[in-house]
Amino acid sequence: MSAILMDGKALAADIKRTVKEKCLTMETAPTLAVVLVGDNPASAVYVRSKERDCGECGIRCLDHRLPEDTTEEQLLALVAELNERDDVDGILVQLPLPGQLRERVILEAIDPEKDVDAFHPFNVGRIMQFAPRFLPCTPAGVMELLKRYDVDPAGKECVVIGRSNIVGKPMAMLLLQAGGTVTVCHTRTADLAAHCRRADILVSAAGQVGLVREDMVKPGAVVIDVAMNRDEDGKLCGDCVKAVSDKASYLTPVPGGVGPMTRAMLMVNTLTAAQMRR
Ligand code: GUN
Repeated sequence: MSAILMDGKALAADIKRTVKEKCLTMETAPTLAVVLVGDNPASAVYVRSKERDCGECGIRCLDHRLPEDTTEEQLLALVAELNERDDVDGILVQLPLPGQLRERVILEAIDPEKDVDAFHPFNVGRIMQFAPRFLPCTPAGVMELLKRYDVDPAGKECVVIGRSNIVGKPMAMLLLQAGGTVTVCHTRTADLAAHCRRADILVSAAGQVGLVREDMVKPGAVVIDVAMNRDEDGKLCGDCVKAVSDKASYLTPVPGGVGPMTRAMLMVNTLTAAQMRR
């Protein structure tokens, strides 16, 4: 039996349609400022797709491109200006930043009320306390997918591979809030396979081709593959080997699973920011 593929592309399109309907009822369009520093090609692709999503949803997108050698002072000045501007609802500074810019300093400078990534310590703290204002986009996208396919984490063994601030840690928090029993695995975990085999819901955000093999998956488990890797032929792929689909009940495809959901949730957060500020 092959796993049912969780169609993130279709669900993201549904969510964006709903966001658009709500945006159309507002007097002025929600506005997202996107800041891209330098010329990381992957970041440029991500930013372009975010701008396209904004267009589809009726969200105004302000595009700020800064050169690779931008100083912290210059970037902080732009963030301060965007914080002040009444016509800006959400601010997104694309990561990673060039080496001379300290991510923590920049992210902490963003007004928490405009922090549509939910990366500011204030918003991270709210998530920890199960009182989130903005949900981090990728973990929130995963939770929406689970909901759509009637997978309730309550009482389930949930295993998250990865402990990043963007995915692993907030993912663990949202699953915990939803009643899951959560284990977070990472590069130093002694016996990854043993942990994974216990999982009813397995979320992999390691970014390592072939990391999750079929023998690590409990029959009938729900497997969420968050990774965006390139295989040896340069093709997009996740962390799971193909045969995982013979063991899992549900599986997210890469591409077309979590990726579009992350982008849709950014649109939801921008709408939320605008609604809170009007
Ligand atoms: N770089 C990779 N993922 C993300 C994200 O979700 N937000 C931002 N700002 N940068 C990223």
